[in-house]
Amino acid sequence: MAVNAKIREYKPEDLEQVLELVKELETEMARKFPNIKIKAGKWDYKTRYLQPGNKYKTFVAEVGGKMVGYLIGYPSVSAPEVDLMYDDLPVTPGHVPPEFYLQITFVSKPFRNQGISKMLHKRIVEYARDQGHKELYACIAKWNEAEISVVKSLKFEIKDLGYRYRLSLKL
Ligand SMILES: CC(C)(COP(=O)(O)OP(=O)(O)OC[C@H]1O[C@@H](n2cnc3c(N)ncnc32)[C@H](O)[C@@H]1OP(=O)(O)O)[C@@H](O)C(=O)NCCC(=O)NCCS
Repeated sequence: MAVNAKIREYKPEDLEQVLELVKELETEMARKFPNIKIKAGKWDYKTRYLQPGNKYKTFVAEVGGKMVGYLIGYPSVSAPEVDLMYDDLPVTPGHVPPEFYLQITFVSKPFRNQGISKMLHKRIVEYARDQGHKELYACIAKWNEAEISVVKSLKFEIKDLGYRYRLSLKL
C-alpha cells in the first residue's frame, strides 16, 4: 500500500528527528544481533554523515510533517578503504567519480511496506544521475531480505560476493 510521503533533501534542522530514527535503528539492530556492537551510532551521524559540507548526501521521508525514514549515500572512489578514510571527497574539485554508494536506509517500523524506502531509493537514483554518476551500488548482507527486495524491485543487478551481495544499477 503506497502512503502519501514527502521525500526531500535533509536540512540541518532535521537533525534531532533523524537522530530519533537512528535510535530506533540501533535498538532494532541490538535486538537482532545481541552479541554484536553496532559501530555507526548517533555520534557518527552527528559528526560525520549529517555534518554539513561532508560528502554524504541524505534524503528524508516525511508523513504528515513527521520524519519516518532516511537514506544516506555518497560518491565513491571505488576503493572501500579510501571511502572509509575520508568524510570529504578526496578528488580534484569538479571531478565526479563514476560510482555512487548507498550506505544506509531506514524506515520506522509502523511505516514499513508502504513503498517509502522505494521512494527514497528512486529519489537518490535521480540525484546520482543528475550529478553525473554512472552507477549506483550497495553491498547488502544476505540476511537483509527486506533491503535486498527493495533494491531488486528497482532492477539493480546482483552479484554474489560470498557473504554479501553487491547490487548495482547503471545510470
Ligand atoms: C529495509 C527497509 C528500509 C524497507 O523499507 P520499506 O519502506 O518497508 O520498503 P518498501 O515498502 O519501499 O518496499 C519496497 C519493496 O521491497 C519489498 N519489501 C520490503 N520489505 C520487505 C521484507 N521484509 N521482505 C520482503 N520484501 C520486502 C516490498 O514488498 C517492495 O517490493 P515491490 O515494490 O516489488 O512490491 C526497512 O525494512 C528498514 O528500515 N529495515 C531496517 C533497517 C535496514 O535493514 N536497513 C537496510 C540496511 S542498509
